[in-house]
Amino acid sequence: MDAGVTSDMTTDPKSVPPLLSLNASDLIAEGSQRWVYRHPADRTKLVKVLRPMPETTSRAKLATWTEAHFPNIRRRWARKEYQEYLRMMLAADPAEFHSPITHMFGFTMTDKGLGCLTEAVTNDNGLGPTLDHLIKSKSFTRADLTLFNDCVARLDRYDIRAGDMTPRNFVFGHRDYAGTPGLRECVLVDGFGDVHAIPIRSLSRWANRIGMADNCRRLAQRTGLRWDAETRQFHLT
Ligand SMILES: Nc1ncnc2c1ncn2[C@@H]1O[C@H](COP(=O)(O)OP(=O)(O)OP(=O)(O)O)[C@@H](O)[C@H]1O
Ligand SMILES: [Mg+2]
Repeated sequence: MDAGVTSDMTTDPKSVPPLLSLNASDLIAEGSQRWVYRHPADRTKLVKVLRPMPETTSRAKLATWTEAHFPNIRRRWARKEYQEYLRMMLAADPAEFHSPITHMFGFTMTDKGLGCLTEAVTNDNGLGPTLDHLIKSKSFTRADLTLFNDCVARLDRYDIRAGDMTPRNFVFGHRDYAGTPGLRECVLVDGFGDVHAIPIRSLSRWANRIGMADNCRRLAQRTGLRWDAETRQFHLT
């Protein structure tokens, strides 16, 4: 008999089996904190699972130490990310809205841990390339720059608190719009939410704009692009 199922065929609430099984072959990307799986039944969605602490990679020593001693930090990130998504969606004007960050569809328990369901940004059936990949492979085009600036402008317009704007967190590709693939666009897939111990970015729109400009300056250094603080747009150098 299956674990968690009693003889009268009701489920024992103390040992509920996972609601979703993830296939090893569907593990298609990973970050330092999360495994990224294709959803087993819906190719337009991904399931992101927090990696167990010992499995996290390429973290600064201080970050690893902090996370090991204060495990709540990692849970807090997940909460902050979802909170930011919800804040944006509740404020969105449906007549004029195009999300610069990935849509999130809630959490579900999987056999690999708690999974966050999110939309996939795809390209030729695989995941779209990141800004990091396009820059390093020298295939970042003027058209990509326009898409990237459009994403940055919308982060500004909707006052999104994005604390971790690294080149690997911007993905270029197509989203699914009710069964139809959309036009190519640039989407921030990770790193949103005000994770500061004192939520400085949440103080005001003005405070968030200063934080955002600071992130953009750093992003320019890492990508070789030029950030214009006046127009708040990037340029090729
Ligand atoms: N929604 C998405 N669509 C397409 N690709 C994605 C998506 N989400 C994540 N990816 C890919 O998976 C990688 C890792 O995902 P993600 O950044 O969410 O993990 P993480 O562990 O939180 O990252 P980090 O290393 O920045 O802490 C991304 O760099 C990107 O290449
Ligand atoms: Mg990331």
